[in-house]
Amino acid sequence: METLNYIDPTQPCFRDCNVLITGAGRGIGEYLAAQFSTRGANVLLNDIVEARIHSVADKLRAQGFHPTTLPADICDLSQVEKMFEKIHHLCGGLDIFINSAGFAKRLPLLEVTEEYWDQILAVNLKGPFFCLQSAARQMIDRGWGRMILIGSIGGHAAQKNLTAYGAAKAAIALLAKSAAVELAPYNITVNVVAPGAVSGPWNDQFFQDPEYFARWVKTVPAGRMAANEDVSRAVLFFASKGAGYITGQTLFIDGGKLAYVPSADAYERVVANPREVEEA
Ligand SMILES: NC(=O)c1ccc[n+]([C@@H]2O[C@H](COP(=O)([O-])OP(=O)(O)OC[C@H]3O[C@@H](n4cnc5c(N)ncnc54)[C@H](O)[C@@H]3O)[C@@H](O)[C@H]2O)c1
Repeated sequence: METLNYIDPTQPCFRDCNVLITGAGRGIGEYLAAQFSTRGANVLLNDIVEARIHSVADKLRAQGFHPTTLPADICDLSQVEKMFEKIHHLCGGLDIFINSAGFAKRLPLLEVTEEYWDQILAVNLKGPFFCLQSAARQMIDRGWGRMILIGSIGGHAAQKNLTAYGAAKAAIALLAKSAAVELAPYNITVNVVAPGAVSGPWNDQFFQDPEYFARWVKTVPAGRMAANEDVSRAVLFFASKGAGYITGQTLFIDGGKLAYVPSADAYERVVANPREVEEA
């Protein structure tokens, strides 16, 4: 991999890198697939919904890229094993692993069942772990690697009715630290990119109501949702050659949401009279 400006899409800074993206069928994973493709990577697209990665692959092929589709459920360890065997067979092993696959369903704590708990933990923790483990084996053989797990601000602060999801995403941050420590001797870094709400299909259902959105956006100092591009820049940074001494980190991409403790009227008062609030 060359040391080039990873932000500039015209520079092939991931040329010939084999990059697996789970959950690449839509949202953040789909966006990342295009970003790595334009920068020269050999992109491997995974998703549980096969039609989604075929459609993403068609779009990338129309732009002259050559992605590979690897449909699999990351919660099913036999499917994960077969996917990594195929990667080894097709291109000799992975250089960059990105876990974007994830799933959330809101349920009050008192209604959580064993089945629900197992489902949420499987997609958001067990699957990413076993993919990471298989990726590590291939990267150790190649003597280099970059792993980026998509976490969430929900793994750092509580969100109502998302107990299991929050627990899984919190665990992802420590999983990255543990893996970072064990894999550092092999030139492999492991980091987490943890967004707040990102504009895309995941959130369509929540933000359709303009009144709700207007209330929500006041809790975000940046005054907007994240775009896929905001998340992607952090992922490209962690994946870049120059980020080799940065490992075990979680980088929040949240427009300042976690840094801010909004009070009921603080936002309006700041806008109306900044000095008054400063002096309070
Ligand atoms: N969108 C947000 O606001 C937001 C905020 C914080 C964190 N995240 C995290 O970012 C990641 C991507 O989110 P997104 O917005 O792109 O979601 P998305 O729902 O648009 O895309 C996720 C993709 O993962 C796939 N997937 C789900 N289960 C899978 C499985 N078992 N095996 C393989 N693929 C599977 C889905 O089919 C889907 O195509 C997730 O890990 C999510 O937790 C998203």
